[in-house]
Amino acid sequence: ERVALWGGRFATGPADALAQLSKSTDFDWRLARYDLAASRAHARVLSRAGLLGEGDLTGMIEALDELERRVVAGEFLPAQDDEDVHSAMERGLMEIAGPELGGRLRAGRSRNDQIATFGRMYLRDHSRVVAGLLLDTVEALIAQAASHPEASMPGRTHLQHAQPVLLAHHLLAHAWPLLRDVARLVDLDQRLAVSPYGSGALAGSSLGLDPQAVAEELGFVDSVENSIDGTASRDVFAEYAFVAAMIGVDLSRLSEEIILWATKEFSFVTLDDAFSTGSSIMPQKKNPDVAELTRGKSGRLIGDLTGLLATLKAMPLAYNRDLQEDKEPVFDATDTLELLLPAFTGMVSTLVFDVERMEHLAPRGFALATDVAEWLVREGVPFRVAHELSGEAVRLAEGRGVELWDLTDDDYAGISEHFTPAVRDVLTTHGSIDSRSAKGGTARSAVARQLENARTEAARL
Ligand code: ARG
Repeated sequence: ERVALWGGRFATGPADALAQLSKSTDFDWRLARYDLAASRAHARVLSRAGLLGEGDLTGMIEALDELERRVVAGEFLPAQDDEDVHSAMERGLMEIAGPELGGRLRAGRSRNDQIATFGRMYLRDHSRVVAGLLLDTVEALIAQAASHPEASMPGRTHLQHAQPVLLAHHLLAHAWPLLRDVARLVDLDQRLAVSPYGSGALAGSSLGLDPQAVAEELGFVDSVENSIDGTASRDVFAEYAFVAAMIGVDLSRLSEEIILWATKEFSFVTLDDAFSTGSSIMPQKKNPDVAELTRGKSGRLIGDLTGLLATLKAMPLAYNRDLQEDKEPVFDATDTLELLLPAFTGMVSTLVFDVERMEHLAPRGFALATDVAEWLVREGVPFRVAHELSGEAVRLAEGRGVELWDLTDDDYAGISEHFTPAVRDVLTTHGSIDSRSAKGGTARSAVARQLENARTEAARL
């Protein structure tokens, strides 16, 4: 006969099919140590409320410590009949402390407030791990930017050559969103740091237990104001899943670029052998699998978020068993990022850029046409007219299959009297880049300041 935590009012145990459906130990076992930490805190509040004698408290704590030792050593494992990690921990406690003492711990708590609390504890721990790994990625980008202070590349909009930019500027453009993702994880901790423990099944505890004391012992900043909210809401889980999905999306954009840059056509980067793979049939292949897996896994991270939101949608208060589905999405998102980020960081830090090729292509495709128009504006020409005249120069050059700097002084003079030979001053990549020196621009001076600010922000987070 199967023993559940709720046997009393039932004449028979659950059907096998239900037991299989109901079981969550396959995925919630990773919460075992949070369960045990909360049980120790709970034993202390029971004792302070006069519901557990001094000797019983000591015995209880010792038994919980022993159970933790067995869990960590892999000696205590989920059994066939354990419904979830909480039932299993109670079974373990009874085995060690005996049914009389072990059976006292459940007073005043419910798996509903337990699970809501442990999920938050797990997310607090892992948001720190993920943030740390992401800062490693940011540091790899900053290091690549710092070692290429001069290199230029074609800046693109619509994937077409737009204006030359510094490679460092482009790399840092990928670092800032990741820094914001880290900031999001840090910010989320304020909301994760509120403990639902003591909410009971939904209405709170009648046994004079102190939720605040448990919260403090478990490292929370506060306990919830509302026990229904405490047991029923998972918005903080969804927020974590969002940040994870956002990280995936941010990484996928750099991944896509690296995949393009590594093609024969671009030839902007070479991937390190340690961060690329070969083909089982084509001997010459060197594939950007880290970037591709990142791009692929970003889809999975989005799926974790949307799956969780769909579970939460229209769910009435308070706890419903649907909420058991809250864990796999955030666990999967965590496992995915913890697996992905070290490989991604390794790939980024070992990228070798062909700076000569990038430099060569930076001004091509008439990428200095804006500089020509802006030069005319400085000569007093209205921008509308300047845009038109620069466009005519592009048309002329394109027709001849040459670049803007290949047109002669006469060609320019033929387009408009506003053009003088001095226009050539702006027809260089570095002239164009260094003219954009205001905050946020791509000039070497501005990017050097930006790099320092990125370092400061990374160190602050
Ligand atoms: N294992 C459940 C969960 O993950 C907690 C158990 C609550 N069960 C219940 N019947 N109220 O959400």
